Amino acid sequence: MRHFLTLADFSKEEILEILQISKKLKKELKEGQYSNLLENKTLGMIFEKSSTRTRVSFEVGIHQLGGKGIFLSSNDIQLSRGEPIKDTARVLSSMVDMIMMRTFKHSSLEEFAKYSSVPVINGLTDDFHPMQLLADFFTMQECNKDQNPIVAYIGDGNNMAHSWLMLAAKLGFELRIASPKNYQVLPEILQKAQEFAKISGSKLLIMEDPKEAVLNADVVTTDTWASMGQEKDKKQRKKEFKDYCVNKSLLSLAKPDSIFLHCLPAYRGEEVTQEVLEGTQSKVFLEAENRLHTQKGVMVWLHQNR
Ligand code: CP
Ligand code: NVA
Repeated sequence: MRHFLTLADFSKEEILEILQISKKLKKELKEGQYSNLLENKTLGMIFEKSSTRTRVSFEVGIHQLGGKGIFLSSNDIQLSRGEPIKDTARVLSSMVDMIMMRTFKHSSLEEFAKYSSVPVINGLTDDFHPMQLLADFFTMQECNKDQNPIVAYIGDGNNMAHSWLMLAAKLGFELRIASPKNYQVLPEILQKAQEFAKISGSKLLIMEDPKEAVLNADVVTTDTWASMGQEKDKKQRKKEFKDYCVNKSLLSLAKPDSIFLHCLPAYRGEEVTQEVLEGTQSKVFLEAENRLHTQKGVMVWLHQNR
């Protein structure tokens, strides 16, 4: 049995295999066909933070595969009243077939997975958001940006930046991350990614200057300056990130046919301008839709490899 806690746990071949399944499922869906690959299976979905895309893609995804999703808001289950993670994990996994969890500390997810008897999927932690990256690379494949691309990530060295590091390191492409000095990626995660990069040949570059990062890039991406749980720092962050907005002038330094990605939700006028988000290079709504297809791919793969 496998869990999906970070991309570090998966080989390049396995990541591409999941995306291959996702592609097949997307094609079938567009043709009005449904595969009952997870018939009678139940997915438990624990959310300790808000969500639009992750919740809907998993819930609709399992439904389309013939199974059922149960939304478990942390406010409504005993976890929020202090029931230990290890007890919750053993109880839930004795009843459902797969569990998706969105939580704060990555170590909470790891503890949950340790005690779960069914596959556990990371629906976002403070450190990683691997499900988003599957949709992002799937979108890059659809836009013909998957062969030796240069990806520029502008902004906070957060869960998205860390997940980009893991994806680039596993698949072997060049990633440049430009963040303000005090908001760079965690050194221990960078170090782990560098180890994978030695094998894959990926170039992982950390810098402060967004222009240097974007120059000739094939994909430009960013994320909110204040992630869930950082609301109280928002004002301070707005000041410190003011030079990290992906606007038309910054994007013009990338290749003319480059694409813009954003996991959403986006804050127009902060990390990205309205013009870029709604512009012709923006693929953000295709990217959001692809969460559905890639989440289905992950569930099917985990079921087939249990
Ligand atoms: N991108 C993403 O994970 O969105 P949600 O927070 O809406 O799930
Ligand atoms: N970095 C953001 C991603 C939201 C999908 C957050 O953690 O809030």
